[in-house]
Amino acid sequence: MEPAIKVEKYTLDDLHGIAEIEKECFTRPWSYESFCMEYADKNKFYFVVRDDDGKVIGYGGYAHILDEGHIMNIAVTASHRGKGIARAIVNKMLDSARSNGINAITLEVNETNLPAIALYESVGFQYSGTRKHYYGWGIGARIYWYYF
Ligand SMILES: CC(C)(COP(=O)(O)OP(=O)(O)OC[C@H]1O[C@@H](n2cnc3c(N)ncnc32)[C@H](O)[C@@H]1OP(=O)(O)O)[C@@H](O)C(=O)NCCC(=O)NCCS
Repeated sequence: MEPAIKVEKYTLDDLHGIAEIEKECFTRPWSYESFCMEYADKNKFYFVVRDDDGKVIGYGGYAHILDEGHIMNIAVTASHRGKGIARAIVNKMLDSARSNGINAITLEVNETNLPAIALYESVGFQYSGTRKHYYGWGIGARIYWYYF
């Protein structure tokens, strides 16, 4: 049997690893410095999965704004995809949001990003509309909400 996926709160030591995955996964990645700013913000909650050597292989984070949450990002390094890591991270964010008293959590996802759409729908996020041209001309963002 596969060992359970350990999802933990991030530490300062994880920020370089997170920025590396960000570079690998996104055309307009957030920088290491942006993650330092996120780390300094007490309303941001990020979680990581690390490999046996302590290297970050996946991360996700949300912002707590009044009684709502907003998922900022989630990514898993390509060589570790398809093992349930992202789902474990999303579930951890939902548990954290629930215990922070959040009523509902939202996110935007590029309408062409079928793996991410399938991920969010598989954990119970509900589609609530598309924001047109959000990611550039002709590429909309699907908006999702999860209600506690
Ligand atoms: C989207 C992403 C985070 C998924 O990570 P992952 O760890 O491979 O996902 P999981 O193994 O936890 O998969 C959970 C569910 O997501 C869906 N999913 C994941 N990868 C998929 C793919 N390639 N095609 C279709 N569905 C997929 C499935 O519903 C899957 O459940 P199942 O395995 O029971 O069918 C990963 O592909 C990634 O990092 N992509 C680049 C960054 C990105 O696009 N982030 C999202 C920004 S909104």
